Amino acid sequence: MPRDSRYDVLFEPVKIGPLTTKNRFYQVPHCNGMGYRDVTALATMRGIKAEGGWGVVCTEQVEIHPSSEITPFIELRLWDDQDIPALARTSEAIHRHGALAGIELAYNGMNGSNFYTREVPMGPAHLPIATFFNDPVQARAMDKQDIADLRRWHRNAAIRARRAGYDIVYVYAAHAFCVLQHFLSRRTNDRSDEYGGSLVNRMRLLREVTEDTKEAVGDGGAVAVRISVDEMVGESGLQKEEIQEVISRMAELPDLWDLTLSGWDQDSRTSRFAEEGSQEPFIAGLKALTTKPVVGVGRFTSPDAMVRQIRKGLLDLIGAARPSIADPFLPKKIEEGRLEDIRECIGCNICVSGDFTQAPIRCTQNPTMGEEWRKGWHPERIAPKRSEAKVLVVGGGPAGLECARALGQRGYEVTLAEARGELGGRVTLESKLPRVAAWARVRDHRIQQLGKLANVGVYLDSAMTAGQILEFGAGHVVLAAGSNWRRDGVARFHLKPIPVDGAMPLFTPDDVMAGNLPGGHVAIYDDDHYYMGGLLAEKLVALGCAVTLITPASEVSNWTRNTMEQHFIQARLLELGVSIVTNRAVSEVRADCIVIACAFTGRTSELPADAIVMVTARLPNERLTRELTERRGDWAPAGVISVKAIGDALAPSTIAAAVYAGRRYAEEFDAPAIGDALPFRREVTGLAPL
Ligand SMILES: Cc1cc2nc3c(=O)[nH]c(=O)nc-3n(C[C@H](O)[C@H](O)[C@H](O)COP(=O)(O)O)c2cc1C
Ligand code: SF4
Repeated sequence: MPRDSRYDVLFEPVKIGPLTTKNRFYQVPHCNGMGYRDVTALATMRGIKAEGGWGVVCTEQVEIHPSSEITPFIELRLWDDQDIPALARTSEAIHRHGALAGIELAYNGMNGSNFYTREVPMGPAHLPIATFFNDPVQARAMDKQDIADLRRWHRNAAIRARRAGYDIVYVYAAHAFCVLQHFLSRRTNDRSDEYGGSLVNRMRLLREVTEDTKEAVGDGGAVAVRISVDEMVGESGLQKEEIQEVISRMAELPDLWDLTLSGWDQDSRTSRFAEEGSQEPFIAGLKALTTKPVVGVGRFTSPDAMVRQIRKGLLDLIGAARPSIADPFLPKKIEEGRLEDIRECIGCNICVSGDFTQAPIRCTQNPTMGEEWRKGWHPERIAPKRSEAKVLVVGGGPAGLECARALGQRGYEVTLAEARGELGGRVTLESKLPRVAAWARVRDHRIQQLGKLANVGVYLDSAMTAGQILEFGAGHVVLAAGSNWRRDGVARFHLKPIPVDGAMPLFTPDDVMAGNLPGGHVAIYDDDHYYMGGLLAEKLVALGCAVTLITPASEVSNWTRNTMEQHFIQARLLELGVSIVTNRAVSEVRADCIVIACAFTGRTSELPADAIVMVTARLPNERLTRELTERRGDWAPAGVISVKAIGDALAPSTIAAAVYAGRRYAEEFDAPAIGDALPFRREVTGLAPL
């Protein structure tokens, strides 16, 4: 289908200094947990973005000098010429598909503890390192020689970046991750020399480094400045007024302005805490200060929202990190008039968790993300079927839906049987919890795609017994029936059931999501530590309950540190009046109260309550797996060749893991057995001479 003419503006070329990008789709820098460790995997991922139509594809932040590195995070490095080939691999992959390659040079200053290099970090002032982990390290205040050194290192990195094939070279002053922002902000700059005090002084280093980079990059390349327009800490930090002045004073110096919020948690807010386009008030009016193109972000997945940004004169280029992760082919789909095929980001920040866990990036919506090279997966393509095999998928949650969709895309005849009257499983239930409606996109995208596949039959209200499965006669059976929350207190703190008096009303998240609700004073025991405890607290407060959330961790929803939401969640719960009891585990449920024990001393106290909700571990729905295994003797006569449980039905985990499990089944189905060989490729570091 030809593209809708309303979106033509998105496909206009834009000049960036001496270069021209073919359209307005701009993949802003984003890290990915691969960096210097998984070079070819990273290059392949960027290449696929370019193939998907992004006019500009950038790297993540690239460490430019050993005196500033952010171990344990795994980024790219450009410390000396040795790093050029690895970086060139990515720029070549980007160029192969006609996109411009951008590189973000980063000197993290007081944001890196230098645990790998053991160099003393530097910044504008003597201040503790501001990492996510409260490292016991301080940065030392830079003297004039340090500033001269830094300028030289940045210049050298820019020259190397051009040698590595990059078109756009970034000066990074955003997210509080970079020394240039540390100099710019009154919060971190207490200097009394010409680099401190007035704004003109505080922006001196940014100006100098931008001038140096312009000179180093030369006539053929472009220089971008990425700057945060608000540090979101009120008057003590950078706000729009100061950034307006910075942009006015340096308006025509860079070839492009890239605007964000600071810190990273504010910039990449989850859908639970920010809507698409939520950065608009922060950037409004800034474009008028320069004739140079401006890129900005806001989890843009809707072409209408993108067009509005251009038409309203807010942006010239539509920046995207997460939308490009969830759907690397987003621009192509708009161009080809295939809006219904767009896999919209759900704003869950599982992609961010890859970075925090030093694991290759993963995405809830796009299970191929991070697997492009090591498994050869592609977000749009999959190998055609190798046989006429027929597959029955039991369960239409995230794993079953993706499995049926991907097998169907391969051309297999697939039957998807769902016990309930609607598809989506846990995604359908969880997306009805407060402010996470966007999660339903995981289901909706797949239902939409299944609708195009005549070879996939979908049956609702079709609970199946083992006998019916055998009778059905599909050669291959996939069991994706999900999991159930436990009622007995078993999770991380207690590995054995705790004493429970049946007189106390006891609920699980399954009960609450099914509409079986507690009332009065409700204790939520959260030994799960991801989002469920916090979401249920919000829901129950909205229903008029008084809620006490008890957790053995020292903060609520502790794992959401990896999605950069923890502090937002804790603040929201406190604002809602939820009483938060940390470092305590529920050790007994009595008829009229909950006994809670200190996680450190074991000392107990009693909490009167009308009901308790156990957010603890889950158990896979294994009934069918067990019954079918017991009837193994009936398989061959019934024509069944294989039975396999996937996703939560095998071992409960995230929605992302369930989608991945569905995809993996489909990718590996009918493939030759690999025995004990590794199920993916990896890049082994070449040994240096002794
Ligand atoms: C996984 C991930 C990694 C990121 N890494 C970087 C980075 O290395 N450098 C940077 O300037 N911004 C980084 N960002 C911020 C993005 O560039 C972007 O500004 C932010 O995510 C908002 O855009 P979005 O809503 O399109 O995701 C990252 C974002 C994500 C989601
Ligand atoms: S992991 Fe979640 S937030 Fe990140 S790109 Fe995928 S869907 Fe979006």
